[in-house]
Amino acid sequence: MKILVTGGAGFIGGNYIHERLKNYPTNQVICVDALTYAGNLETLEPVMKNPNFCFELGDIADEARIKEIFEKHKPDIVINFAAESHVDRSIGNPGVFLKTNIIGTQVLLDASRAFGVSRYHQVSTDEVYGDLPLDRPDLFFTEETPIHTSSPYSASKAGADLLCLAYARTYKMPITISRCSNNYGPYHFPEKLIPLMVTNAMQDIPLPVYGKGENVRDWLYVIDHCHAIDLIIQNGRLGEVYNVGGHNERRNIDVVKTLLSQLGKPESLIKYVTDRPGHDLRYAIDPSKISRELGWLPKTSFDDGLRQTIDWYINNRGWWENVLSGKYKEMKIESRF
Ligand code: NAD
Ligand code: DAU
Repeated sequence: MKILVTGGAGFIGGNYIHERLKNYPTNQVICVDALTYAGNLETLEPVMKNPNFCFELGDIADEARIKEIFEKHKPDIVINFAAESHVDRSIGNPGVFLKTNIIGTQVLLDASRAFGVSRYHQVSTDEVYGDLPLDRPDLFFTEETPIHTSSPYSASKAGADLLCLAYARTYKMPITISRCSNNYGPYHFPEKLIPLMVTNAMQDIPLPVYGKGENVRDWLYVIDHCHAIDLIIQNGRLGEVYNVGGHNERRNIDVVKTLLSQLGKPESLIKYVTDRPGHDLRYAIDPSKISRELGWLPKTSFDDGLRQTIDWYINNRGWWENVLSGKYKEMKIESRF
């Protein structure tokens, strides 16, 4: 089985590759990544010498390069993690989000169709549903919740989802989509809330909390997300969307205070800063479809996952210090097969 994983030098794709090679040691995994600022070869260092792993430098929006990679590897399955993923950056510079997230998806879909892959899986996000009010804890995102996006990032991810559904119907392609809530765990780029707050606290520098810190996110340990994707690829119904989330809602300020306490750092490090424009209030996933149809349930509680994540940042200081210094861009590419 040959699995082509795009965006594997990033946070979730990197964790997925580690898990896949560990749990399916006879699979071959090809990682296609453009190594943008968010791509880090040090994340893939533990698998770089695995004979079943191959790295291919490539932009998913580059049709010729993607065709070349498909011709060389003839993948059975394609999982598209590659994306511009940070909401704040999309507010400053929407263009690259449209190019990677929408055009990149179209290029991958066309290649998958031309080469007759047996499954194309699109890794999407709960942000395509917009947000929920803070005072209605009874409301959740289901797969039927209308698309209603807030940021250029979420609009570009929604565009990609709609394209996938259109290809599934028009060309009868074997496509599935997962829409997951906020992930956290090892190898998370320190621009996102949890890794930014952990690494700032470890350096005793201020922790910038947007607005009053009252916005709510629904946190899921990254490995639980990876297992959900595997189940969808194995048994998910074609043309279907599956929401992924563990009913683990937390206010940002509570997350920040919890991690400060676990690190033994003072709350005086918290600095309330200007809010994100268009800031989504609350995300909350109803995961009953994936639980009912595929038997998926999250295995890691927030307390355990946050403890493991903080320990990982303590024990892998070199990984994030190389990101902050820019040294992570010096690692050499190794390609195999
Ligand atoms: P990330 O920013 O950590 O990693 C993205 C990876 O994609 C990087 O390695 C980057 O180099 C690569 N990439 C970017 N543009 C590319 C291009 N044009 N061609 C090839 N590679 C390119 O992102 P992440 O947090 O790991 O998210 C992965 C996917 O999961 C994204 O599609 C995101 O929308 C989705 N998602 C993320 C979360 C979350 O909480 N992080 C939750 C739900 C869904
Ligand atoms: O819900 C899934 C989404 O989760 C993914 O699709 C995105 O790719 C991923 O980046 C994430 O989006 P968020 O915008 O929710 O994540 P972020 O870590 O940027 O912010 C989480 C919350 O913390 C949000 O309410 C904004 C707030 N925040 C964030 C940063 C970076 C702060 O208060 N201060 C900060 O410095």
